[in-house]
Amino acid sequence: MSELELAPSVLRFYSETVDESSRLYHSADGRLELARTKELLRRFLPPAPARVLDVGGGPGVHAEWLVKDGYAVSLVDPVPRHVEQASAICSASLGDARALDAQDDSYDVVQLLGPLYHLPDAADRHKALSEARRVVKPGGLVAAAAINRYASLFEHVTYAHLHTERIQQAISKILATAVHDGPHFTLAYFHRAEELADELRESGLVDVEVFGIEGPAWSLVKAVEQQPGEGPTDDLIASAVTAARMAEPYPELLAASSHLLAVGRAPARVAA
Ligand SMILES: C[S@@+](CC[C@H](N)C(=O)[O-])C[C@H]1O[C@@H](n2cnc3c(N)ncnc32)[C@H](O)[C@@H]1O
Repeated sequence: MSELELAPSVLRFYSETVDESSRLYHSADGRLELARTKELLRRFLPPAPARVLDVGGGPGVHAEWLVKDGYAVSLVDPVPRHVEQASAICSASLGDARALDAQDDSYDVVQLLGPLYHLPDAADRHKALSEARRVVKPGGLVAAAAINRYASLFEHVTYAHLHTERIQQAISKILATAVHDGPHFTLAYFHRAEELADELRESGLVDVEVFGIEGPAWSLVKAVEQQPGEGPTDDLIASAVTAARMAEPYPELLAASSHLLAVGRAPARVAA
């Protein structure tokens, strides 16, 4: 593993505060995120078998369905607990998105579904995306997720405390600076959609597109989950998934999604 520094809050959060292996299965917005991430990736993945590098793959929630779909998945993550959990699913090792051990042109797909959240410096995000571009084969797919710049504005309405002054100030700071540096999460960066697309292009990727993962109705689902009662029905979640699909042609609706997924390709090799 490289000697690059990982923010202590990232290691602490994933080692002690949360168990990332259950988030996408148990919360309503997690289920929405998982369903739509699968749907969007399956639209762009080459047919199985193909080699997928899951950078920042955590405990392997995405690796698990990719392996079931027939892909050969290798996962790297800087958190030892995640590597231990993911080892039950695929080949997993300690690693940092900014300095991958993999060889040039060695994977059909490289996905970063999380590292960009935790790299507030633009130079670090550029390193991570350039590494993905280096190790993916010519014409191969790079998929990168980001937390939306406006996600915390919607999220804190669902907790019904945005009107309190302390929370308002914290969220206004994230909106103004794009950086979260406080309790309850890690040091984190929040992207605008066009900024995410630019970062992929600046790392040499082409055919870049950005999607809203959960779509514009995710916060309705989350708000229902926060209120007393049975929680969101399957029909409400299905409607939110449909809203996410229907919103895809309208880039102005990207701002309302919790996460964004950008896809791009390494340029194909030009014949000599
Ligand atoms: C929100 S979790 C997502 C895990 C998994 N990809 C998923 O979507 O379920 C973010 C992941 O990024 C990893 N991460 C944070 N900083 C990283 C870095 N510099 N390089 C690679 N991974 C990193 C964390 O350890 C964590 O596993």
